[in-house]
Amino acid sequence: MTLVFETQRLLFRLFTMEDAALIYTLNLDPEVTRFTHDPITDIEQAKTVLEKTILPQYALYNHGRWAVHIKETGEFMGWCGLKYRAELNEIDLGYRFMKQYWGKGYATEAADASIRYGFEKLNLRRIVGRAELGNTGSIRVLEKCGMTYIGNEEVDGYRVRTYEAINPFVR
Ligand SMILES: CC(C)(COP(=O)(O)OP(=O)(O)OC[C@H]1O[C@@H](n2cnc3c(N)ncnc32)[C@H](O)[C@@H]1OP(=O)(O)O)[C@@H](O)C(=O)NCCC(=O)NCCS
Repeated sequence: MTLVFETQRLLFRLFTMEDAALIYTLNLDPEVTRFTHDPITDIEQAKTVLEKTILPQYALYNHGRWAVHIKETGEFMGWCGLKYRAELNEIDLGYRFMKQYWGKGYATEAADASIRYGFEKLNLRRIVGRAELGNTGSIRVLEKCGMTYIGNEEVDGYRVRTYEAINPFVR
């Protein structure tokens, strides 16, 4: 296991190709993909997500979506982290957890730590977060992390609220 960093309650590690079943299970729940619009229908598709989307980010940018585990029990709860979006030339903050872990402050803890890791360890200048208008939980997470609301826009055909965090130490 390649550990990236940890918080009080959570461990962040790199995904590997062995994690296809975890990605599959996570994206199987329609409530989890309600606002992300990317359900996964089989293990092969989960493998493709790992191979084409998640793993290349680690090699190219030294960051990515990290697998998140509960420190105390080792349970996999989902993912959180950063992703370079070439089409927007932006680094995006994202998170996605299985339903049984919602409502315990984990997303806020994970998102806040990902921003800090991006600023303090990777010297990133700007991180952007977006949530669809009805995704109240995600909007609240972005706000609780201290990100600044910069407006609404349409991305991939969906109306979203957009937030940013600026690293004061990087020009
Ligand atoms: C969005 C998500 C990550 C939130 O995770 P979480 O661990 O429940 O979030 P937290 O416990 O840190 O809660 C943060 C705040 O949001 C609030 N919140 C969480 N879910 C909420 C909901 N469905 N409705 C209203 N408020 C909600 C919490 O009450 C808390 O605010 P408070 O401290 O003022 O009470 C989780 O619901 C999820 O994985 N959803 C599916 C994937 C997804 O939509 N990802 C985001 C795409 S932009």
